[in-house]
Amino acid sequence: NSEIKSTSLAIVIFGVTGDLTRRKLLPALYELMKAEKLPEKLHLIGFARRDWSDEFLREKLQAGIEEHSRSKPIDPQILERLLARTHYVQSTFEDFQGYQKLSELIKGNRIQNVLLYLATPPEEYLVIVELLGKSGLNKRENGWTRIVIEKPYGRDIESATILEQAVHRVFSEKQVYRIDHYLGKETVQNILVFRFANAIFEPLWDRRYVDHVQITVSETVGVGTRAGYYDNAGVIRDMFQNHLLQLVTLTAMEAPVGFNADAVRDEKVKVLKALRPLRGKDAIQNTYRAQYVSGTVDGKRVPGYKDEAGVPPDSVTETLLAARLYIDNWRWAGVPFYVRSGKRLPTRLTEIVIRFRQAPLSLFDWHNLAGDAPNTLVLSLQPDEGIRLEFGAKAPGPINQIAPVNMEFNYQETFGTEPPEAYERLLLDCIQGDATLFTRSDEVLSQWAFTSNILEAWQQFPVRNLPVYEAGTWGPPGIDDFIQQDGRQWRNPS
Ligand code: BG6
Repeated sequence: NSEIKSTSLAIVIFGVTGDLTRRKLLPALYELMKAEKLPEKLHLIGFARRDWSDEFLREKLQAGIEEHSRSKPIDPQILERLLARTHYVQSTFEDFQGYQKLSELIKGNRIQNVLLYLATPPEEYLVIVELLGKSGLNKRENGWTRIVIEKPYGRDIESATILEQAVHRVFSEKQVYRIDHYLGKETVQNILVFRFANAIFEPLWDRRYVDHVQITVSETVGVGTRAGYYDNAGVIRDMFQNHLLQLVTLTAMEAPVGFNADAVRDEKVKVLKALRPLRGKDAIQNTYRAQYVSGTVDGKRVPGYKDEAGVPPDSVTETLLAARLYIDNWRWAGVPFYVRSGKRLPTRLTEIVIRFRQAPLSLFDWHNLAGDAPNTLVLSLQPDEGIRLEFGAKAPGPINQIAPVNMEFNYQETFGTEPPEAYERLLLDCIQGDATLFTRSDEVLSQWAFTSNILEAWQQFPVRNLPVYEAGTWGPPGIDDFIQQDGRQWRNPS
């Protein structure tokens, strides 16, 4: 860290006028400055089209921190240190002169290291990368250059491959940091700690003891002001290709040979390669899509998806998706992974549920419980971060009846603090040159290869309408049938 502190660093944000800078990047940088993790000589350089000045950018960045920072009140001295060297380069992303100006600014200030951050609409990535190369901003003589690229990284396997080729013409893989902000979440990292720092669960973590796995990422928000992007994406591109598949790989991967970027990512890629491809009719049978109509969420009446500004009236974009995945390797053969994600569901929740097999003989009756024994491990990733093991205990009384009980770890109660924001960790790792929590080239392409098969099948068998669900519910009856046909149930929090 002391080495980092004495260097000079420019963080160049392309698309600095957008939402991500204000809501996530600057609040995260503020926290890092507060924790004394950033170089003394930090330059923040914004690059965007709008007619802003250095001063105006600085005001905007400050306002973003004041509004979105997790530690309040804001300390003016830290703010001053963070924003002391703020520069704005006004340019379109296609204009080579803008990149020359940027290059001169970096040279003029004798900045050693440069972190380039693409927070623009994804359509701009290709041209930005190309012009960064043309202007020589992809390399430095006495320091490093790294590039952070936000999702979506392509929209199918073809476009992701084209982007990959363009990126690799200009940058080496070691310089490239593809963000999936789920990996920056403390509780997501804890999946690996839980699995590989404790020996007791690992022997149970396979087809012999696990009946199935459920991964749910549910949100209460709707499409908001992002219809233009979202209607072309749907859950499959917005959540499945990246966040859901990341959670699948972390849950299913083998222990890496070491905790470093290559070893961890090698194991993750193996899981993606072992996913049984969903093509044609298989893709139709193993996915379920639906779209929300108006309803009540968090006590508020909200419009349906098609009534949101910018959504075409005949849209068949899914706002809820469930999929049944199989990982064809020795550990997981025959164990279904049910994943689902949707907008306008009843609650905001991300959890991984490991459902263990039943005891071979049932000797006791369940108290107030029909059916299965609740041998379940729940990794709650948000918002109530923690881990819970559910099992049966003898209910008090003269008859042998079993009651479901829990052993529980709660992050906040245990550590007395809320987990930090994902972007804090990710920005710091990038500055320190640790790519473990970023998506590697072959990883993102494997994710897309799997996802593109599904997209192609949906195109091959088009639908005129999707099943609909009222906002604030867990989906149409079809989503329950989807899992019940396997004799299983979704685990919905009450
Ligand atoms: C983003 C998606 O990647 O993740 C959004 O584009 C989604 O649609 C968000 O709302 C969810 O992130 P989080 O951290 O709130 O679970």
